[in-house]
Amino acid sequence: MMFRYALRGRGDLAEWRDAARGFIAAGIVPDIIEWRTMDDADGLFGFDDNRLPEPSPHYRPASVPPAFIRLAEAVICHSDPTRFALLYRMLFRLLHDRNLLQIASDEDVVAAQRMAKTIGRDYHKMTAFVRFKELPLPEGVAGRRRFIAWFEPDHFIVKRVAPFFERRFNDMDWLIATPKGSASWDGTTLRSSDDPADKPDLRDETDDLWRIYYASIFNPARLKVKMMTKEMPKKYWKNLPEAELIPSLIANAEAQVLDMARRAASQPLPFHHRLQEAAAQVPEPDRAPAGTLAALKEEARSCTRCDIYCRATQTVFGDGPVDAKVMFIGEQPGDQEDLAGRPFVGPAGKLFNEVLAEVGIDRQSLYVTNAVKHFKYEPRGKRRIHQKPNMGEVRQCRWWLTQEIELVKPKLVVAMGATALFSLTDMRQRLEDVRSEPIAMEDGRVLFVTVHPSYLLRIPDEGRKAEELARFREDMNRIKRLAA
Ligand code: URA
Repeated sequence: MMFRYALRGRGDLAEWRDAARGFIAAGIVPDIIEWRTMDDADGLFGFDDNRLPEPSPHYRPASVPPAFIRLAEAVICHSDPTRFALLYRMLFRLLHDRNLLQIASDEDVVAAQRMAKTIGRDYHKMTAFVRFKELPLPEGVAGRRRFIAWFEPDHFIVKRVAPFFERRFNDMDWLIATPKGSASWDGTTLRSSDDPADKPDLRDETDDLWRIYYASIFNPARLKVKMMTKEMPKKYWKNLPEAELIPSLIANAEAQVLDMARRAASQPLPFHHRLQEAAAQVPEPDRAPAGTLAALKEEARSCTRCDIYCRATQTVFGDGPVDAKVMFIGEQPGDQEDLAGRPFVGPAGKLFNEVLAEVGIDRQSLYVTNAVKHFKYEPRGKRRIHQKPNMGEVRQCRWWLTQEIELVKPKLVVAMGATALFSLTDMRQRLEDVRSEPIAMEDGRVLFVTVHPSYLLRIPDEGRKAEELARFREDMNRIKRLAA
């Protein structure tokens, strides 16, 4: 007997998951299910209204590893029609072997990871090659600026990429239309749809701006056609206004390089030496000596290691004496820290200061910093709502934290909360399992783990809050003793 199941539209994860759960509950082996989408189900002949079999009386629900869910979220965006069957096969196998994903040579694991990688590439191309055109507002109408873009992704990634565009282009209204769905943002709501869109007519003068920009950054002396077409594959060219220039820029590159060389060898302009003399009078900005904490702080100001910087006001670097014995590490700056440019100056910082004062630790003697140096948030109206940094972002920002630790050389490092702990150890442990005891680190320093003050601020029950605050105070007393 064969089961057939047709998913609506392109088939999203929630829909596949509901059907997959039904088949798993009935104990249906992967080989006898045929998965389709309505789009390619040929009039649905034989698809029998998608009825799921009765659950088996022996069925006991089991959880799946979060890593599989993350993988499935990417794989489901792939346009390969075998993706549903592949995911079901993996799900079925995971019930008997929870470590399946760790078998790097397994055919299904390899296939799924390859699909996820393709989705990552498609995602990246979309973030790089979407070109918005402004739609003028009707005469006499005031309002936010409106933009539209057309893009042709290979896979069903629009919903997945939409939050990126929401973050990047938050202050304008936009619509991105593609043959594989569309997404829009109106300042409050991010919407997406799987319905294929038609290509709008988008030629206007912003095309010229793109061409001018592209021609100005094109360096004929650095031309590597192979690299260029790898970074900007030809299939995207038709929707990139600047791409029209590429053939002629390539064709003229050699002549331009010769011309540049000829001009370089010519006499300097008559007033050239006067410009150089004037430039020599301008004092160099005071640069901190290389290899110091001050130089690191300066360098971190232009950090773009992850996307969080796009919306943050500034980098909030650590603060405190360069020879501090104790370093406290929080998660990331909050709203007030982002504006002030200093860590722990908002509500969590106020509580932190109060407890330090109660137990007699001088904050001025501490080096206080964060695992992540930019404020990650979601705008909601006029408010900026804190968003937890993800593991990738924490790993990127570890670049700064590691150097801060190397330069300050604290004897005692205090991780306040799980993000700081993850940044220091790369492990996701329950805080309670490691809290309140000194832990020897590989580099000879001592690590002490406690909760983050924001956690205390969020406890709604007053009684429990008082208890947790007392524990936090006790941790601070231990830290004081350890530091002494
Ligand atoms: N929370 C943190 O983790 N760090 C700050 O600087 C402020 C709030």
